[in-house]
Amino acid sequence: MNTIGTLLRLTLFGSSHGPGVGCVLDGVPAGLEITVEEIQREVDLRRPSMYIGTPRAEADMVEVLAGVNDSRTTGAPVVLFIANRDTDSSKYERFRTVPRPGHADLTARNKYGDAVDLRGGGQFSGRMTAPVVAAGAIAKAMLATAGIQIAAYTQQLGRLVDEEERYLRDVRRTSKENPVRAADPGLALEMVNEIMAAKEEGDSLGGVVRCLAVGLPMGVGEPYFDSLESELAKMLFSIPGVKGVEFGSGFRGAGMRGSENNDQFIIEDGEVRTITNNAGGILGGISNGMPVDIRVAFKPTASISREQKSVDLERMEDTTIKIEGRHDPCIVPRGVIVVEAATALVLADMCLRGDFIAREHR
Ligand SMILES: Cc1cc2nc3c(=O)[nH]c(=O)nc-3n(C[C@H](O)[C@H](O)[C@H](O)COP(=O)(O)O)c2cc1C
Repeated sequence: MNTIGTLLRLTLFGSSHGPGVGCVLDGVPAGLEITVEEIQREVDLRRPSMYIGTPRAEADMVEVLAGVNDSRTTGAPVVLFIANRDTDSSKYERFRTVPRPGHADLTARNKYGDAVDLRGGGQFSGRMTAPVVAAGAIAKAMLATAGIQIAAYTQQLGRLVDEEERYLRDVRRTSKENPVRAADPGLALEMVNEIMAAKEEGDSLGGVVRCLAVGLPMGVGEPYFDSLESELAKMLFSIPGVKGVEFGSGFRGAGMRGSENNDQFIIEDGEVRTITNNAGGILGGISNGMPVDIRVAFKPTASISREQKSVDLERMEDTTIKIEGRHDPCIVPRGVIVVEAATALVLADMCLRGDFIAREHR
């Protein structure tokens, strides 16, 4: 469905080439200080960058339709809207009968029949993540009241991998200063070149976003199906293009021994800490007070300008397809702020559920 969350509930609406996209965020405590400029700043970080071969798109402008008055939330559902501009739906008509490889055209048409809206990817478009980012700004403000911070960066882009251990305080600043959202400016330059080379060849790249959340107290997480990992994974897998989510050592942990993977305990400043963080800050689905450490794998952008094999669903015969128009050769840099927002929304919801964030900020 289009709603996620328990006490902080996010509902998405709209489509890529309709009047606009937006969300209703219900459960935001009254009295939270938030300005439209703060929300806009986050949404601006989702904008494609012309430095990596994406033609400059018009900026998305957020409108706050309800739930905020005089830069404070009122306790009523927050309604955010972003108008669609600059849309050309004519190219999408063909995809109803000739589905694009890697896109939802085939499965969406199979599910919704002729009524399906495939213009600009319809409700499957990455554009649906714009309101997620806007809502994420509010979730981040909620978390900040409890001293919880989130920052993500591009850890891998194609074959280029950032092998360094990174800390949230460094990542927050550096990743926003380059178009690929890398933590290292030197590597950022290599990543830009890698994207340009793929684009030159009519191809695309994927990568990994690493997201850190610091300041989360021990004890956030609910039993079994609502474990912190389960809730985060559900949200993160909802982001278009995401094909993998791992926590801490994740799949690497499968190849380790217990003696390597176990995070041994110590007392530090009077608190229980762990020497390593292979658990990614989560034990038994409950936060353990260490940084939450998540890695999110994005597939290479589906839209590539090379000719590809497809099928004509009306004639039921093989054909070919070439996708033209404006497309990101790599969506990973734009995915960084989306991953931050998605993580913030889940953590804020889970903090409300565990009474780690006050229901009202008077
Ligand atoms: C911010 C963002 C922007 C995206 N832009 C594009 C794009 O320009 N071209 C494209 O092929 N896919 C893009 N995607 C991914 C597709 O929407 C997605 O791969 C497609 O709908 C199929 O869904 P799936 O990959 O989750 O199976 C984007 C995703 C995000 C998060």
